[in-house]
Amino acid sequence: MAHSAIELKEVDYEMPSGTEGASVCETRHAWARIPPEPSLAQRDALKREIRALLKERNAVMISHYYVHPDLQDLAEETGGLVSDSLEMARFGRDHPATTLVVSGVRFMGESAKILSPTKRVLMPDMDANCSLDLGCPVDAFSAFCDAHPDRTVVVYANTSAAVKARSDWLVTSSCALDIVRHLSAQGQKILWAPDRHLGGYIQRETGADMVMWGGSCIVHDEFKAFELQELMKAHPKAKVLVHPESPPDVVALAHAVGSTSAILNAARTLDAHEFIVATDNGMLHKLRTLNPDKVFIEAPTAGNSATCKSCAHCPWMAMNGLQGLAHVLKTGANEILVDPAIAKRARVPIDRMLAFTAALKGKSGTAPGQMVPGIGAA
Ligand code: 13P
Ligand code: SF4
Repeated sequence: MAHSAIELKEVDYEMPSGTEGASVCETRHAWARIPPEPSLAQRDALKREIRALLKERNAVMISHYYVHPDLQDLAEETGGLVSDSLEMARFGRDHPATTLVVSGVRFMGESAKILSPTKRVLMPDMDANCSLDLGCPVDAFSAFCDAHPDRTVVVYANTSAAVKARSDWLVTSSCALDIVRHLSAQGQKILWAPDRHLGGYIQRETGADMVMWGGSCIVHDEFKAFELQELMKAHPKAKVLVHPESPPDVVALAHAVGSTSAILNAARTLDAHEFIVATDNGMLHKLRTLNPDKVFIEAPTAGNSATCKSCAHCPWMAMNGLQGLAHVLKTGANEILVDPAIAKRARVPIDRMLAFTAALKGKSGTAPGQMVPGIGAA
């Protein structure tokens, strides 16, 4: 690996000190280590090596839609998966391979390990983090839960295993709406963490009684409503697809709001030729390959991205590269381990989510949240 060309990016994120609105967020600093882009010849050689190693090690690749296109294509080509975080968890649990190579961020590797304790889970870079996870440390979160003992604790997948272990239910953006609606219909009051924008969206949609942790995603928090409206004026026929980790005024402009899978589904099914996309620009690869005759435009951001000036790209997702993947397959480095007692407790809310979504899928014939209708200009 050409270590000299690795870029270290400074990343700022918010550390909430309590519930949304009730607290001022401190700015904290983190970093991301971005591998160099290999040359064409290096890419071909690395891909050949990875294909062979996957077979040799009885391993399968599981990649998120936000990682480098090479890691998405290679996963699919070798019988693995590229998907949203919910399907990544399910696929890893059900696949017979003895090694899972998860390209994404740390919580995705941890979820895979919790669901498959006897499998080896490797990641190209296990320091790939997430501002939602970093901004919700378990001790402070536990104190927040202790202050609201009458509430059902619903936690987003983008959290540490320890935070999951403190929860009653786990959700991802593709099933959060269904699960909170279900709990609210039973009269349960919700404690939600950590993403305040996703939580706010769910609260507006379901009317559930929710208190919220005040975290946010550094990528989606960057989208700007005024600039988006200007772009919509320039492209009046374009439909707007928004991930619900975005701010509420951006969500309000959407024709479809949903998880990464829901966004893909909306691009396929909505009657439009042009789309403005408010999510990590790693999604554009799949959107464009699955819809070659449609046009996808990136939604405008505030321009503070750590990875590129005016785009939305998660610096931690960018830590995943072919070099790292080949290295971990060769050496077994970067193995994700979760304390067995924490894993056992964290598995309860994850299993609850997977059982709920499987039952819902059985009823409707489609995965939950595959397309959440927009609440805006549809
Ligand atoms: P999905 O669950 O929609 O894949 O999102 C994960 C994520 O990290 C979004 O920023
Ligand atoms: Fe976390 Fe945002 Fe990156 Fe997703 S895009 S992994 S929510 S920081």
